[in-house]
Amino acid sequence: MTRPIQIAPSVLPADFAKLGEEVAALEQAGVDLIQWDVMDGQFVPNLTFGPDVIKSARKHCTVPFEAHLMVYTPDVMAKEYVDAGCARLIVHAEACTHLHRTLANINDLGANAAVALNPATPASAVAHVLDLVDLVLVMTVNPGFGGQAYIETMETKIAEVRAMIDAAGRTDDVDLEVDGGIGPTTIAGAAAAGANVLIAGSALYRDPEGLEHAVTDLRARAEAARTGD
Ligand code: DX5
Repeated sequence: MTRPIQIAPSVLPADFAKLGEEVAALEQAGVDLIQWDVMDGQFVPNLTFGPDVIKSARKHCTVPFEAHLMVYTPDVMAKEYVDAGCARLIVHAEACTHLHRTLANINDLGANAAVALNPATPASAVAHVLDLVDLVLVMTVNPGFGGQAYIETMETKIAEVRAMIDAAGRTDDVDLEVDGGIGPTTIAGAAAAGANVLIAGSALYRDPEGLEHAVTDLRARAEAARTGD
């Protein structure tokens, strides 16, 4: 049984001057978890959150946090992001010379490990680490910024990863997440291809009816796409 649909925000579009209030509002709006887009200015041309920022927001809500580590050296600060309150660390396959060891180290820290794939990276990059992760992230934009256009051709890769997870007997244990350009007109394609965790930033914050409407609407669209309604 594919794991349930989860709607999760990227806090990139949030007001960084009041992140405590912002994460509380996201929880109130019904999100299943919150993703922190951690960027080092090297792996991607942007610089965002350190562990202390995440730690300061942790006490303002109860939903799980995950850190999407768009950084070249995820091993160096993995413990700090776990200690800051992240239940899951997502590392990029492209940034890890020893991906298997990095994921095993995250598990040893007591957090859930996950791996992200940039658009050009083949699904096969995760073939030998599915036993170490509870999530695979298929990027549907080139990472670094919110508000980019969804790359529809990634739906083939989403389906490939879904098939790999199922073939490995990990359907009940591993989420398939997508991130980038997810909104009312793109979420159905991603969900139908096999994604069950959908990250949205711009689409949540630009909904004129507010966060709660956006979360509810995106969830309904993803659920409908999975049942073929
Ligand atoms: C890219 C970021 C964005 C963000 C979501 O590095 O990871 O994908 O989370 O951005 P939107 O939903 O605005 O495309």
